[in-house]
Amino acid sequence: MAGNVNSAPGQAHWSSRAAFVLAAVGSAVGLGNLWRFPSEAGANGGGAFVLIYVLCVALIGAPLLLAETLIGRHGQRSTIGSAAILAKQSGASSGWAALAVIGLIANFLILTFYSVVAGWVLYYVATSLGDVAGAVASGQPFAGAYAGLTTEQVRAQMPDLFADPGKMLIFHAVFAIITTFIVARGVKSGIEVAAVWLMPAFFLLLIGITAYSAVVGDLAAAAAFLFQPDFQRAIQPQVLNSALGQAFFSLSLGGGAMVAYGAYASRETNLSSSAGTIAFADTAVAIVAGLAIFPIVFSVGLSPDAGPTLMFQTLPAAFHSMPGGALVALAFFVLAFFAAVTSSVSLLEIGVGWVMERFKLGRVLTSSLLGLGFFLIGLVSLFSFNIWADQRPLPFLPGFENATWFDAIDGVTGKLLLPLSGLITAIFIGWVADKKLVDPETGLRPGRFLPLWRALIAWVCPLAVALILLFGLFPQLIS
Ligand code: TRP
Repeated sequence: MAGNVNSAPGQAHWSSRAAFVLAAVGSAVGLGNLWRFPSEAGANGGGAFVLIYVLCVALIGAPLLLAETLIGRHGQRSTIGSAAILAKQSGASSGWAALAVIGLIANFLILTFYSVVAGWVLYYVATSLGDVAGAVASGQPFAGAYAGLTTEQVRAQMPDLFADPGKMLIFHAVFAIITTFIVARGVKSGIEVAAVWLMPAFFLLLIGITAYSAVVGDLAAAAAFLFQPDFQRAIQPQVLNSALGQAFFSLSLGGGAMVAYGAYASRETNLSSSAGTIAFADTAVAIVAGLAIFPIVFSVGLSPDAGPTLMFQTLPAAFHSMPGGALVALAFFVLAFFAAVTSSVSLLEIGVGWVMERFKLGRVLTSSLLGLGFFLIGLVSLFSFNIWADQRPLPFLPGFENATWFDAIDGVTGKLLLPLSGLITAIFIGWVADKKLVDPETGLRPGRFLPLWRALIAWVCPLAVALILLFGLFPQLIS
């Protein structure tokens, strides 16, 4: 395949700064914003969670995002290769690069269940297409209820899907194939093309659905829920831990996705302003998504704390009683699919970049092997909803005693491995790596924001992440 040899880390580049930012925003904006953020906010008291979340993004996420992209841009290699270069040039132990393996593993594990959830999204795209067709055929395309279905039948879609491993498997496989195909096409003609087409479409759909929701839904209730913090909840360790984990997950941090994408950025790209744009865009999308989802949920009197079922059960039921609901549901799940693909490709690219570099393999072969790998491991999460629903893999880990395989992989990666990997990155960049190499990469001016960023990355990030990790794991320490 032409272009294949030039697509390894160290050779491939984005075609412009805008392409880099769009691809990185594509990585950041995903199911984390649409599915995980609203469900975490709903489960953790709304406003309290949102407030802590925004603080986590500003003080920990954005500085780390800059740190990750600069490791990549400096090294121009895979995540592990780039960390090794910076460690070596700084006269530090090569053990620092070995620690990047944590992120690599975390990402791959995230991809395994991400694809399962994205498969649900595809399933809902398919069923809403059927609903729209039915509504149109019945001659009432803008009627509330989907053609002939009752709200109960709409709510039953999710348990029915979960009970049917075969159905889930098909959609998980389709999503895995799409992801693998895009990554196999390379950085410029695969990942960049997907971001450049899908992200603008995503933004248009999001604006449209939010406007619809503001008109037909209960916007005031949603705004009160998202923006009125209950301070007693905000300082609870679980809320802190969930907000930090969500910030890492949503900004694609801690796993090296941003190292990988930074490696394809040109020398001219200003990394600090890019990191700011990416963090801002991702947070804005999460909040706007909340403003698209909750008004509809509240207007039909449903509860916001449904957790992971919010997007797949509560929301479709809410759409069901709205005018034009079938069409809006279709638009929403198409939007979620676009967001999911531009994220899953980044999760896969981290591993693909490293394997290509380490084993000198071609891109198509590497993508196919890893694609098959994450599909197969994803079956563990998939079966945890049906065949293996009774299994509890982590009875010994505090907070995870009752977790299924799916919860265990999601929780351990998001709440443990990503923050741990971010902690290591902050210490590495803040204390170990040579300032003479690091500082010029940031694009920050020495007299102004550079000292601020240095203080955040050297002190605030490591301390905050370490404390939150500790209290998250051992809540009894402060209660
Ligand atoms: N940020 C993505 C989302 O919000 C998920 C994601 C993509 C991710 N790449 C990542 C999460 C790397 C952690 C690490 O859906």
